[in-house]
Amino acid sequence: MVRVGILGATGAVGQRLVQLLDPHPEFEIAALTASADSAGKSYREAAKWGLDVPVPDSVADATVVETDAEAIPDDVPLLFSSLPSSVGAAVEPDLAEAGYVVSSNSSNARMAEDVPLVIPEVNADHVGLIEVQRDERGWDGALLKNPNCSTITMVPPLAALDSFGLERVTVSTLQAVSGAGYSGVTSMQIIDNALPHIGGEEEKMETESRKLLGEFDGAAVALHDAEVSASCNRVATLDGHLENVWADTREEVTTDAAAEAMASFPSADLPSSPDPLIEVFEDPDRPQPRLDRMRGDGMAVSAGGLQETPHGLQFNCLAHNTLRGAAGASVLNGELLLREGYL
Ligand SMILES: NC(=O)c1ccc[n+]([C@@H]2O[C@H](COP(=O)([O-])OP(=O)(O)OC[C@H]3O[C@@H](n4cnc5c(N)ncnc54)[C@H](OP(=O)(O)O)[C@@H]3O)[C@@H](O)[C@H]2O)c1
Repeated sequence: MVRVGILGATGAVGQRLVQLLDPHPEFEIAALTASADSAGKSYREAAKWGLDVPVPDSVADATVVETDAEAIPDDVPLLFSSLPSSVGAAVEPDLAEAGYVVSSNSSNARMAEDVPLVIPEVNADHVGLIEVQRDERGWDGALLKNPNCSTITMVPPLAALDSFGLERVTVSTLQAVSGAGYSGVTSMQIIDNALPHIGGEEEKMETESRKLLGEFDGAAVALHDAEVSASCNRVATLDGHLENVWADTREEVTTDAAAEAMASFPSADLPSSPDPLIEVFEDPDRPQPRLDRMRGDGMAVSAGGLQETPHGLQFNCLAHNTLRGAAGASVLNGELLLREGYL
């Protein structure tokens, strides 16, 4: 078993990491960090536990420590980070320099040229960018990122459609409140309401998707040349981002061919990768957040409503934002790092 730490373990994504890592076949939780306010408390006391399963016994009485290299034991080679991005930007490079391998959810450095941004089923080969990163920065550790939760939802179906020559993507999202973290959206703002525009989210979808779908030549990642345009909206669902996507392709694409390309898109040979990766519905009113977010234990992407357009294909897609879109994505990247020998 590889001893692992969770940075930001008390937050919405941190709790999901605890839930996924507690029974994990390859990893064992050995460190839990949070802010100075939480440090010194037991995990049970520090975390405002919000999941519908009990706090695992293995961590309930563990002491939360501060988020720095001195507080984290040396024999914990892999750290999963779910820190606010400003905090991640400050501490993740120091931890990588100190020799830890950091698999991070935070949005800082996702577009940095020497930082791999990875969905293992889509672009596992980009993990090789760690060699470039280590050469350039002189790190013994490494920093690897998973993309934003709304980007993760649409990129696997887009990767499946790329065989038809993806030229332009337009997406509009209906994103769950858990995506904003525990203190992100108040009940007074969201009940009986929907909030257009999520600061920074549109830009993340427009740039991260092109890096994920880009080519890695052993030295750098060339962004995919598709134009991506996003409009992000917060709605009053708890978990699960639903997205309406219009994909323009160079070649004609029929709904049958698109459904086949999505349904047969391969999963990764890693413990947390679901098979199938993309579940395709024929019913036009699926996927739906409440009914479909837990498919593949919350790690599958669902697609439906496939329709030919004059320029390509229209479809809807859905993924669980704190599982496939955050904690599960990070755990999957940790599994990839282990398999590829980076630990
Ligand atoms: N929620 C999602 O669906 C989602 C999806 C993808 C990516 N993300 C990203 O994941 C990260 C975490 O999001 P979240 O929703 O889990 O946020 P959150 O619920 O607000 O949790 C933040 C965590 O970071 C800790 N923290 C805050 N300030 C700190 C500091 N100065 N030093 C050390 N630790 C500090 C908090 O500890 P305390 O409890 O001590 O304050 C808590 O453990 C963000 O970067 C977010 O953008 C979230």
